[in-house]
Formats: sequence, structure tokens, C-alpha cells
Amino acid sequence: MKKLLIQLDTDTYPATFDTVVAYDGGADPVLAYGGLTPDSVAPLVEGAIFTRAPKDKKNTAIFIGGSNVAAGEALLNAVKKKFFADFRVSVMLDSNGSNTTAAAAVAKLRTSGELAGKRAVVLAGTGPVGQRAAVMLAREGASEVRITSRRLESAERACRDIQVRFGVTAVVPVEADSHDARAQVIQDAQIVIAAGATGVELLEARHWQDNPNIELIADANATPPLGIGGIDMLDRGVERHGKIVWGALGFGALKLALQRACVAKLFETNKLVLDAEEVFAIAKEMA
Ligand SMILES: NC(=O)c1ccc[n+]([C@@H]2O[C@H](COP(=O)([O-])OP(=O)(O)OC[C@H]3O[C@@H](n4cnc5c(N)ncnc54)[C@H](OP(=O)(O)O)[C@@H]3O)[C@@H](O)[C@H]2O)c1
Repeated sequence: MKKLLIQLDTDTYPATFDTVVAYDGGADPVLAYGGLTPDSVAPLVEGAIFTRAPKDKKNTAIFIGGSNVAAGEALLNAVKKKFFADFRVSVMLDSNGSNTTAAAAVAKLRTSGELAGKRAVVLAGTGPVGQRAAVMLAREGASEVRITSRRLESAERACRDIQVRFGVTAVVPVEADSHDARAQVIQDAQIVIAAGATGVELLEARHWQDNPNIELIADANATPPLGIGGIDMLDRGVERHGKIVWGALGFGALKLALQRACVAKLFETNKLVLDAEEVFAIAKEMA
């Protein structure tokens, strides 16, 4: 029986990245739809849950993507609301690669040093990847996770969303709209993750290399200029200036393997829901 993945994207065009990785994860075919909202998704979910016998339902699964993680969460809730009794299929949320990218970065940092009890900063952490990374750091016991934004209101909104969705209270919003301001925010931190937009530099090397407190650094941005100057996108837990550094491609291999593995898992049962917690648990096993 064919392993059908129904890819539901909140953006106009479904992400081809997710389509390719879905095929590589064992889905075949992938049926991709864009522009979805909680109000428009019902017929697509009904087509997934009513078409196969109970023992065969595990061969149909749903993947939710798109650039806005809050919109993705809303879509996930709408999808789950349509499920009842055994009329359900496994579903995964990974808006903009948020869960798999953050999980890969934090799982790799975790192999390089202790996270519990440490102060962490997620630079430009208001996007999908940054928000998830902040949650995962907090769940690993970081004593405080600062989320920076160029605008305080954006950082506050991200922290509020995290508190509502995950009940995590260790997140702190901070406004930092320049390299120097961000350098100030990381001054007393031990862990720094850069989660800024593609091709945006957030710090130069001089802002972190002489900082005696920083122990672990990860940068998600793989497009030059990188998020953090003075590191290499291929860095795989290498030591630079006394800190352990992970570049975007350094942990990117785990991100891709993780996304494929999660897609494969969707077809093992019709009951899985893979969101931040579940994806992070799988990442920790794989790292
Ligand atoms: N390594 C991997 O495997 C992998 C996989 C997927 C994604 N990524 C990368 O992960 C990073 C984060 O992804 P995302 O989708 O979460 O990012 P995003 O939503 O595009 O951007 C994150 C934040 O960057 C800030 N930002 C935008 N332009 C800026 C500027 N000019 N100066 C300073 N800050 C700016 C914004 O925060 P404010 O407006 O609040 O300041 C925004 O919320 C990206 O670089 C992406 O390419 C890596």
C-alpha cells in the first residue's frame, strides 16, 4: 500500500524543501497543498481519515509546514479537532523547519556541554526556529533563556506564545537592535544560539571571542554573512577561542536526518503527533 503524505502548508506555495525531504523519508507520493487555514483544512483531513481501513490508516500521514509557526500550530489544532475514535492519522508540525532545526541545534549543543542551570540567549529568536530553540533550552534546564528582537514587542509576543503553548516561564524578552546591543545581552550568558533570518549577521567575532562566560555557540544561518562572525558554517562542535561552536551545516546533517526519520515514523502508526517535544526527544536519541 502506498505511503501517502498529505503536506499542508500555511504559505501560498507548499515548501519544496519539505516535499523533497518527505520523499527521502519514505513517503510516496506526497500530496502538497498551500494557503491553508483552520477554516479551509477540514476536507483534506476528512480525505485522510475516512479512506483506509483501520489497519491501513498508518499508511496515510499529514505534515504541516509554512513560514509562520503560530499559523502552523493553529492548523495542527484544527487537524486534530477532526480526529475522533480511530479516525485519525499521524501528523507532524515543522513550520519553516522550526522543530527539526531547533531540535538538531540544541541536541548537538547538549553533546558538547551541560545546558542545565546555564543562562542562554537566542539571538533574533522571534522566528520559528528561535522560538522552538528557546523552548528546548528551557526544557533542558537552562536557568534563563533570553530572546532578542529588534523590537521589544516582538520579543514579548514570542515569549507570550511560548508561555501559552508550552508553559515555559524561563523565557525573557529583550530588545537588541544592533550588534553592540546583542553583545551586551550575551555578556553574562554561557550559551548563545543565533536564529536570525537568512544572511543576516547578528554579531561580529569581536563581540564574543574574548567573552570569558560563553561556553557553547550555535548559528542556524547557513547563508553568508553568517549569523555570528568568526565561526564557520561547517563547524561541528569545534573549539574556537575556548568555546565549543556549531555552524549551521555542522548540525544541519542531523536536522535533515531528523526530518527524514520523523517522516518515516509517521508511517509506523496512525496515532503519532510530532511537535516540539516529540521531535526533540527523537533528536536527542539521534545526536
Ligand atoms: N541549519 C539548518 O539546517 C537550518 C534549517 C532551517 C532554517 N535555518 C536557518 O535558521 C534561521 C532561522 O530561521 P527562521 O525561519 O526562524 O528565521 P526568520 O523567521 O526568517 O527570522 C528570524 C528573526 O530574524 C530577525 N531578523 C530579520 N531580519 C533582521 C535583520 N536585518 N537584522 C536583525 N534581525 C533580523 C527577525 O526578528 P525581529 O524582527 O524580531 O528582530 C526574525 O524574527 C535562518 O537563518 C534559516 O536560514 C537553518
